[in-house]
Amino acid sequence: MTSPTAEQAPAAASAPLCVGVVGVGQRAYIAHHVAASGEAAVLVAAADTTADGRDRAAAQFPGVAVVASHHELVGLVDAAIVTTPDATHATIATDLLRAGVAVYLEKPLATSVADADAILGVAAETGTPLYVGHNFRHAAVVRLMHDVIARGEIGEVKTIWVRHFVGNGGDYYFKDWHADRSQTGTLLLQKASHDIDVVHLLAGAFTERVVGMGDLMVYGDVDDRRERPGETVDDWFSFDNWPPASATGLNPVVDVEDVSMMMMTLGNGVVASYQQCHFTPDYWRNYTVVGTEGRLENVGDTGGGVVKVWNRRHDWQVAGDVEYPIDGVEAGHADADLAAVAEFVAFVARGVLPSLSPVAARAAVAAGSLAAESLRDGSTPRDVPPLPDAVLEHFARLTAPAAPAAVPRPTRSAPAASSAAPDPVAL
Ligand SMILES: NC(=O)c1ccc[n+]([C@@H]2O[C@H](COP(=O)([O-])OP(=O)(O)OC[C@H]3O[C@@H](n4cnc5c(N)ncnc54)[C@H](O)[C@@H]3O)[C@@H](O)[C@H]2O)c1
Repeated sequence: MTSPTAEQAPAAASAPLCVGVVGVGQRAYIAHHVAASGEAAVLVAAADTTADGRDRAAAQFPGVAVVASHHELVGLVDAAIVTTPDATHATIATDLLRAGVAVYLEKPLATSVADADAILGVAAETGTPLYVGHNFRHAAVVRLMHDVIARGEIGEVKTIWVRHFVGNGGDYYFKDWHADRSQTGTLLLQKASHDIDVVHLLAGAFTERVVGMGDLMVYGDVDDRRERPGETVDDWFSFDNWPPASATGLNPVVDVEDVSMMMMTLGNGVVASYQQCHFTPDYWRNYTVVGTEGRLENVGDTGGGVVKVWNRRHDWQVAGDVEYPIDGVEAGHADADLAAVAEFVAFVARGVLPSLSPVAARAAVAAGSLAAESLRDGSTPRDVPPLPDAVLEHFARLTAPAAPAAVPRPTRSAPAASSAAPDPVAL
């Protein structure tokens, strides 16, 4: 095993990095990307508190040590990929970081600002590497929108509006712990943290003030509820589960909102809005970014989609003045997942600075959790508290400078819609 701190990662590891995975449910499959990362790293252990999870670990990762607690990974691994429910992130991450185990922590970083700050504080204090799995930053659609903005094609960004159609009949978020506030806090964290993070990326600043509005409008009225021991989302996901009000087998506790909206004022004056609905027939997100010299909008958010740019004066026009095809996988996010895990492994094994910062992950948690507070308190505004300078400086030293914008490859012809069915994986 190698046990580098974030500041002292070796130039070349003498032995393969030993990696473990904590929480073997639906998302644990990203641990397979350790082997695909191209780095000298190997998955050696898996931990899950349930017998079902340990059975899945033995089946999915043959040959690895299977244990019942993240504590038992200490001494077995140099690094751990944490794919447990959100409310467990703070305890597991701080325990591992204090034990010198580098952590890849799934988003959201935590379910409250206090927990997020505790994790960042322990990482800064111990120097143990921390990476938060905001894989959406690696998605082709996000890289493309960022490049369009960085090349100045729409001028200076002033406002961003995100519409998030979280379809699939409640299968993703209302049939297990995701529906329970005590486990997630709010779907403005569990689901929206990706998009809040990308709003921050595209705007070039973090949220300082936020208000929220929303309600539980459909799934709260569905009475068919049950526990689902031993099941993960792959067991119940089906396009036949429609319309949403006919859903069966919802989680016994359903108290998160199924419609959530938030408005943000960012540190550089950009204003942004985000809307999320969990009972739409379709499943994707749409960004509109308006700058001083044009606007962009994505149609589709995976391979086969397009980012349109309008930057000349005219009346409404379906075609963009310029259109860029979105690369990458046509459904799901396997390419972004691999990029994220590879970035983490390269960071820990070879000290290659990652493009993602835990400070940005904290900014997403702050905006989402405070928007939920606002939503549940008459839409009164909330201000994001600052992080200590020492924590900001620690992570600034450990984050790579932004890469230059990619050379454009525009096309004017609208691509054909993808016929591929999305895989049952939420991002
Ligand atoms: N970045 C993405 O695109 C993406 C996609 C899906 C899920 N996620 C994140 O991954 C995490 C896991 O989600 P999921 O859908 O796999 O959940 P899941 O319910 O399918 O799996 C969670 C697993 O963790 C285990 N577990 C619970 N508490 C534990 C503990 N204290 N120690 C060890 N194991 C424990 C459970 O037994 C279960 O096997 C969440 O934080 C979620 O937000 C991220």
